[in-house]
Amino acid sequence: MSFTGVLRPGHIQIRVTDLAQAMRHYVDVVGLDEVLRGPDGRLYLKAWDEFDHHSLILRQAEKPGMDFVGFKVTSDAALTDLGERVRRFGLAVEELAAGEMPATGRRLRFACPTGHTLEFFAEKRQIGNGLGTVNPEVKPETLKGMKPTRFDHCLLYGDDIDGNLALFTEVLGFQLTERIVAGDGKTIIGTFLSCSNKPHDIAFIRSPERGRFHHASFYLESWNDISHAADIITRHKVPLDIGPTRHGITRGYTIYFFDPSGNRNEVFSGGYQYYPDNPVLEWTEAELGRAIFYYDRQLNERFLSVTT
Ligand SMILES: [Fe+2]
Repeated sequence: MSFTGVLRPGHIQIRVTDLAQAMRHYVDVVGLDEVLRGPDGRLYLKAWDEFDHHSLILRQAEKPGMDFVGFKVTSDAALTDLGERVRRFGLAVEELAAGEMPATGRRLRFACPTGHTLEFFAEKRQIGNGLGTVNPEVKPETLKGMKPTRFDHCLLYGDDIDGNLALFTEVLGFQLTERIVAGDGKTIIGTFLSCSNKPHDIAFIRSPERGRFHHASFYLESWNDISHAADIITRHKVPLDIGPTRHGITRGYTIYFFDPSGNRNEVFSGGYQYYPDNPVLEWTEAELGRAIFYYDRQLNERFLSVTT
């Protein structure tokens, strides 16, 4: 389902400082499938219930962080139209040719007002979820790790939250589902944006530093799977940020932890179903603890300050 021409977050490229360690983390611990070791040295992975070729790309680099997040749109015509709207908004749009990313059609790329690189594409080769499409079983027998079903969303930190809000809602066709408003009652310090019926497909938090990566989130099927993920985090001595707990914002269940390079991951489940005529939900700064961690009702300093 797409309400906007943008279908969903389609891929994210994350920088890691040790590719072998990262591979063990994302495959054995998180439970993603390795799809391809690219000629570019990058690793291409997917969650089991994604049909497209890949959703996570790992790139060896000096420093951790996010290179870009990519969204899939409904058609090549929708992609062209989106590119024109972004140019009219005043951003420089670069086109990357089909095949520049393995199994992926042409991509349109630009930097959004918070300095993050976004890209959009219409085509990616489908390799399926292993169940076939006629009378399929409900899950593969070979699920491992935390058993994520898909790359769900990412949260990014940056300065021009108002510019991003205008871009996403007026140009890219996203809906603002929830926002956090500072103590002055005016300044928006957090935005949660949906292109689907999920409570968020991307989110931004205001911070003085531009272009920061807070976390990439992978979807689990149930609260029981969140508990299973917590067992795995302890068994494998994965650095834990916080959880299992629940968000007030989105109402989702969550655990945050770190990959071996220091990038934050989340596994997430639940959350309400969003429709475009839902009212925007607003959180005040005084209730920020409950908004982010509904059970603890307070933030930890690490969650606020550690980004890559
Ligand atoms: Fe999240």
